[in-house]
Amino acid sequence: MFDKLASQPNDPLLALIGLYNADQRADKIDLGVGVYRDDMGRTPILRSVKAAERELLEKQESKSYVAPEGDRVFLELLWDLVGGKGHGRFAAGVQTPGGSGALRLASELIARAGSGRIHLGLPSWPNHAGIFGATGLNVETYPYFDVPTQDVRFASMMKALSSAPRGDAVLIHASCHNPTGAGLTPAQWEELAAVIAERRLVPLIDSAYQGFGAGIEEDVAGLRTIIAAAPEALVAVSCSKSFGIYRERTGAIFAVSETQESADIARSNLVTMARTSYSMPPDHGAAVVRTILATESLRQDWMAELNAMRDRLNGLRRELAAALGDGWQLAPQIAEQQGMFSLLPLKEADVMSLRKHHGIYMPTSGRINIAGLKSADIPRVATVLKPLLG
Ligand code: LMR
Repeated sequence: MFDKLASQPNDPLLALIGLYNADQRADKIDLGVGVYRDDMGRTPILRSVKAAERELLEKQESKSYVAPEGDRVFLELLWDLVGGKGHGRFAAGVQTPGGSGALRLASELIARAGSGRIHLGLPSWPNHAGIFGATGLNVETYPYFDVPTQDVRFASMMKALSSAPRGDAVLIHASCHNPTGAGLTPAQWEELAAVIAERRLVPLIDSAYQGFGAGIEEDVAGLRTIIAAAPEALVAVSCSKSFGIYRERTGAIFAVSETQESADIARSNLVTMARTSYSMPPDHGAAVVRTILATESLRQDWMAELNAMRDRLNGLRRELAAALGDGWQLAPQIAEQQGMFSLLPLKEADVMSLRKHHGIYMPTSGRINIAGLKSADIPRVATVLKPLLG
């Protein structure tokens, strides 16, 4: 049987981890996969996570199954954090293995009950198209961001969505757009919400970087504008970055609707899909998040830690923009963009040459993970980038 298979290429983004690790140069720089790093290049376990883990180690009494939809208290607390209250919508959640697991279940639900079509603004996280394709969705694309000018193509986006067939799904990044860092203004969120409501589109909102952009509340304001307007929505949440628990694979998919009854029906379908795939999600990461969100002192400490990660990112953005400023007129945009990523107008050959000659690693798209920079590296990085950008 296996001889009928064709060997598959490695995921280019994940393959970068191995390429970087194999490089022996002491001054190599990893701007690849989207993982937060401190100024020593480490991805530390948050204090609040360690404290929650200690508590679980002491108090957890069983490793028996939790529930088909996962940890209900985790789901409730996470929805309060992301969706909030006061938008007149009901949500039903299912805990998933990471944000990717959430997107996968959402995609299967759209394939089962929706139009089978999803609109995806480009560029986007490469795995979006991969996940949607794997569940048989037809992916329609529209332009979201213009790399040479570093502008959001809002008019093109609105034009495409205004003529999207009723009932189609549309993928929306909640904040800290991956790979561009470029988001919408509050007025643009309102306009987008109005088109979604008018066309009765089903937004699938990907929220993976809450707290890394403008603030914990600010980063979900657009998301809340959309769910208040849309009759139905799906919200895929990743806890990987905001809690720094990447390998624990912790996330959730929420079906949001005008009635509790219809949200519950959607959940029952999501649970069935999970059951025939991986049965039930892993517990540990969700138990950690639940413990943090339910314990006021841990919650406060976690918020302080998340705010510090955001401050470091924004500081690096300002430093990089200043260092690039005398050679590249669009440099100020880097400081305005939010979250871990910016997408530089680099050719594939430039990216390969940065890797080979300078030990600077990024995917061939030219996306950089700002968190991979150390302050001390910025002058060197800017010096080699400027001739390529200007
Ligand atoms: C990224 O875009 O680098 C992250 O979301 C990690 C991943 O799974 O691709």
